[in-house]
Amino acid sequence: MAVGIFDSGLGGLTVYDQIEADMPDLPVCYFADSAHTPYGTRTPDDIYALTCDATQAMFDHGCNLVILACNTASAAALRRMQENWVPRDKRVLGVFVPMIEALTERTWGDNSPPREVGVKHVALFATPATVSSRAFQRELAFRAIGVDVEAQPCGGLVDALEDGDEMLAEALVRSHVDALKRRMPHPQAAILGCTHYPLMQQVFQDALGADVTVYSQAQLVSDSLADYLKRHPDMLGDGTETKFLTTGDPRTVSDRATQFLRRKTTFEAA
Ligand code: DGL
Repeated sequence: MAVGIFDSGLGGLTVYDQIEADMPDLPVCYFADSAHTPYGTRTPDDIYALTCDATQAMFDHGCNLVILACNTASAAALRRMQENWVPRDKRVLGVFVPMIEALTERTWGDNSPPREVGVKHVALFATPATVSSRAFQRELAFRAIGVDVEAQPCGGLVDALEDGDEMLAEALVRSHVDALKRRMPHPQAAILGCTHYPLMQQVFQDALGADVTVYSQAQLVSDSLADYLKRHPDMLGDGTETKFLTTGDPRTVSDRATQFLRRKTTFEAA
């Protein structure tokens, strides 16, 4: 049994880390498409083709269920994959819906009609491709009425984090928060809509102010995965060990991942 966790690079390790902490016995196949990161500046067709290739590789490694721990792929490719590509006996889930269910005070998988919710002004921080897909607003509109969303494309931030350049990443977070606040001075909630951004969660929180609730995905995705596996144990797949695959140079990616997770993490070539 193995659950696939996909990201364009290392950001999805924030989700993996939480899943591992919550379900230490669950074998996982983590796939980093490091040769093609970042996805956030690519076209939807390109993101779709790359995400299908990576997902197929995880199916070939024994996964029946793949989590796109990448908002950009979830936003730009997931719906099209589910409609046209995913085989009947496999499942591909994204990371957007659990976050929106939490924001709109729903239990996992509650598909009842949209209703008024407590939060009215939401700031979304995400990659340029995620912002231009408008997938967040679409999924939110299925669940909530009257929520005002202001989205900030955070150009450059994924590159800085993949390169381990924290000073640049912090400066970029501050300037993206400033830009957002010029358009929405008082957001009640902020969504970190990219799996790389939890690394900068404190910087976002400081720049936004203590009265803004910052939602980041790792715990939400892990909780909803545990719930999903309880309801669909057949989706566990037939892999038996945890492995880390990359389309990039395994040694470089392993070094960065070890830095990122602060423990030895060894990638092999996909
Ligand atoms: N970490 C991914 C996301 O959640 C991908 C970022 C990128 O490759 O641009 O959007």
